[in-house]
Amino acid sequence: MLRNQYRSLIYTATILTALVGPLPIVRANPGPDRAAANAMFRTKCAMCHGQDGAGSAVGKSMNVPDLRSPVVQKSSDAELAQLIANGKAGMPAFKGSLSEDQIHDLVTHIRSLHQKK
Ligand code: HEC
Repeated sequence: MLRNQYRSLIYTATILTALVGPLPIVRANPGPDRAAANAMFRTKCAMCHGQDGAGSAVGKSMNVPDLRSPVVQKSSDAELAQLIANGKAGMPAFKGSLSEDQIHDLVTHIRSLHQKK
C-alpha cells in the first residue's frame, strides 16, 4: 500500500518535472510575449488600424489616426492604455475583453510600430 503511494508520488514528480521543467527556458525568451501582442493586434486591432498601424481602408473611413504618428506616440503609456480600455468615438472599449496586462502589451506593441517606421 505504502509502496504504491510512494510510486505514484514518483510518477507525479516525474510528470511535474516534465511539464514544468521546460518553462523557464520559454520565459527567459522575450519573444513569445511580443508574438502574443502581435497576434492580439492582428486579430483585434488591425481590421481598423492595419497591421503596421497606418490604418486599414475601414479605419481610414473612420478617421483612425496613424498609430506611428507623433500625435499618438506623444501620449503617455497610461493615456494609451486608458484609451484602449475605455474606447473613444469610433474606437471600441477593450476593457471587457482584454486584461490590463494584455493592454499593456499592446501599448508596447504600438511603441514598436513607431520604431519600425
Ligand atoms: C472598429 C475599429 C477599431 C478597432 C477594432 C480598434 N480601433 Fe483603435 N481607434 C479607432 C478609431 C476610429 C480611433 C480614433 C478615435 C478618435 O480619436 O476619434 C482609434 C484610436 C486609437 C488610438 C489612439 C488614439 C489617440 O487619439 O491617441 C489607439 C492607441 C488605438 N486606437 C489603439 C487600438 C488598439 C490597441 C486596438 C485593438 C485592441 C484598436 N485600437 C482597435 C478604431 C478602432
